[in-house]
Amino acid sequence: MSLLDRRLLLFTGKGGVGKSSVVAGLALHAAAAGKRPLVVELGHRASLQGLLEVEAVGPRPTEVCSQPPVWAVNIDPQHALEDMIYAQVKVRRIARGICKNRLLQRLFAAAPAVSELVCVDTIAELERTSENGEPKFSPIIVDLDATGHALMFLDLPRVMRQLLAGPLRKVVDDAAKLFVDRERTALCLVTLPGEVPVEETLDLCRRLEQSEIRPSLIFANRVPSPPLSPDLVPAYQQLQKLGLPHPAWSALAHRMHMHQNARTALARLAQQSPLPIVELPEIAPGRCGLAQLGAAAAKGVCT
Ligand SMILES: Nc1ncnc2c1ncn2[C@@H]1O[C@H](COP(=O)(O)OP(=O)(O)OP(=O)(O)O)[C@@H](O)[C@H]1O
Ligand SMILES: [Mg+2]
Repeated sequence: MSLLDRRLLLFTGKGGVGKSSVVAGLALHAAAAGKRPLVVELGHRASLQGLLEVEAVGPRPTEVCSQPPVWAVNIDPQHALEDMIYAQVKVRRIARGICKNRLLQRLFAAAPAVSELVCVDTIAELERTSENGEPKFSPIIVDLDATGHALMFLDLPRVMRQLLAGPLRKVVDDAAKLFVDRERTALCLVTLPGEVPVEETLDLCRRLEQSEIRPSLIFANRVPSPPLSPDLVPAYQQLQKLGLPHPAWSALAHRMHMHQNARTALARLAQQSPLPIVELPEIAPGRCGLAQLGAAAAKGVCT
């Protein structure tokens, strides 16, 4: 199943590996392919504005750029909590009143994972939203926090299911079903082709084995292209033995070394993980580069 056929794409990975860039690129690609992508940012983690050079992303889904049309929402837990309470009490004024109540605000702040729970509920709600019998947004691409928080976030519906009853129990049940449904949802791990990031990704895969959510594929971002075509490599190796001291030569030797390191790290990843690995290139800054990244990412096929 191709990646863009899934309704919900969840992205995580260590800080700075390129999650937001891949999310933005994939949204541009999906939009250009005639889909209606919605990028979901969580609260403070707002990066789409800078990446796509658009207006700040607000708490309701909005078209942030029209050529091609990409939608985005920043799920602010405070707004999302009000919506969630509104869904139960059906009166906006009462929902707002509950959220503004100082005592309840302190209670919500003290209760574990309330913000995450309302974010989970909002994502599930967005996935259910339809227009003329069709899903309103597809794919919904969620830029999750770096690994640690994302693990808690993804596992939340399962954990909370054991603690909650009543309407909130339904909220987490729906989200839990959505997150583990491999027809609808793909969990995408982003990494870099280096020894440390690869080890961290393998560690994340092991930790995910304890949760109900299985990752669908790994994006290896910023994979350096081979500096030389294969027919030139033997000649390079011969010359390298001579130890030519020219600066241009050391630049090439450095690129060859980086490329070799990347290939070694990716070989280890492939050997240790059964997940498909999609290699993404180094890109130039700006929208064209992101679209190129998105086109490469869209080739991903999920397990
Ligand atoms: N394929 C790529 N080629 C070149 N530069 C890239 C690529 N992917 C990401 N970058 C650059 O790497 C930096 C980090 O990327 P990005 O913000 O997407 O990472 P992130 O995983 O979302 O980070 P954070 O964990 O802080 O949210 C940015 O400067 C971005 O432009
Ligand atoms: Mg980011």
